Amino acid sequence: MNENKTNINWYPGHMVKSINEMIKDLKYIDIVLVILDSRIPYSSKNEDIYEMIKKKTCIMVFNKSDMADPRKLKEADKYYKSLGMYTIKTNSKTGEGIKELLEEIKKVGQMIKYKNKTSVAYLKLKPVIRVLVTGIPNVGKSTLINKITNKVSAKVANKPGITLMKQWIKTGNNIEIMDTPGLLWPRLDKNKAGIKLAICGNIKDDILDVEELAIEFIKIIRTNKLYMAMLKDRYNLNEIDLEDYNDYEIINKIGESKNVYEKGGFVNILKTSRMIIEDYRDLKIGNISLE
Ligand code: G4P
Repeated sequence: MNENKTNINWYPGHMVKSINEMIKDLKYIDIVLVILDSRIPYSSKNEDIYEMIKKKTCIMVFNKSDMADPRKLKEADKYYKSLGMYTIKTNSKTGEGIKELLEEIKKVGQMIKYKNKTSVAYLKLKPVIRVLVTGIPNVGKSTLINKITNKVSAKVANKPGITLMKQWIKTGNNIEIMDTPGLLWPRLDKNKAGIKLAICGNIKDDILDVEELAIEFIKIIRTNKLYMAMLKDRYNLNEIDLEDYNDYEIINKIGESKNVYEKGGFVNILKTSRMIIEDYRDLKIGNISLE
C-alpha cells in the first residue's frame, strides 16, 4: 500500500487564489449557497467557510440527496437546523428540490432585504436578491446552477491564471445567481474526511490508493446491518463471508464472486477494489451514506 498516496492533506495554491477571489465578490452577495454532498454532509463542508463569509446568510444545500441514506440525511438536516441554519435537499440532476430552493432563497432574501426598512417606496421596489453558489469540487455546483438557470454550462475553471468574466444570471423572482461558483477546498484532517471524499469522487483518483479506499469503504459498511445486506445482495455474498472474514478477505470474496481474476488464478484485488468504489459511486450497491 502506498502511504503517500492516501496522505491527502494539502491545500493547492490555486484554491487559495480562488477563495481570495470569492471573498472579494462577497460584497455583492446577499445569500451564499453552501453545496454539500448528501452522502458525506459533514466532510463535504469547508470548515473555514463561516469565517470567510462572516455576516452573510447561508443556505446549506444537501445535493445528490438521491444517493444518500434518507435516515442519515434526516439526522444531518436536524443537526444543521439545530445550529440555526437554513437547509434544503436537492437532486440537481433531475431538478428535484430546485423549486423549493428558489422559494427558500426568496423567503430568506426578503427577510434580509426588508429588515429595518419601513419605507413603503423601498418595499415596492422588490430589490434583487444576489446569490453565490459555493462548494468543494464535484458536489454538483455547476449542475445546480445550470438547473436553476437552464444554462448549458456553468463549469468553473479549476486552474490558476484563467480570468473568468463574472455575470449575473437572472432567474425570475428577482433572484440573480453569480454564474461562476465559488470553489472551496475541504479540510481533510478530521474523521478520515479525505478517505470519504475520495470514495465519493471529490478527490481525483490518480492520487489515491484505491485498495485502501475499498478497505475503508468495507469498514463503514460493516458498521451498519442494512448496508451489509446491500453489499451481500450486490455481490452474492453470504452471512459467514461478512461476519467471519476481515475487510481484505471480503474484497477477495467479492472478486471471486465477480470473477475478477489475474493470471495464476488469484483475485485481482486492485481491479476488484476499483469495481467496488465505482459501483458505489454509480449507486449500484444502494443508498449508503459514509457518515
Ligand atoms: P462541481 O461543479 O461542483 O464540480 O460538480 P458538477 O456539477 O460538475 O457535478 C459533478 C458530478 O455530479 C456530475 O457527474 C453531475 O452530473 C453529478 N451530479 C450533480 N448533482 C447531482 C445530484 O443531485 N445527483 C446525482 N446523482 N448526481 C449529481 P459526472 O459523472 O461528472 O457527469 P455526468 O454523470 O453528468 O455525465
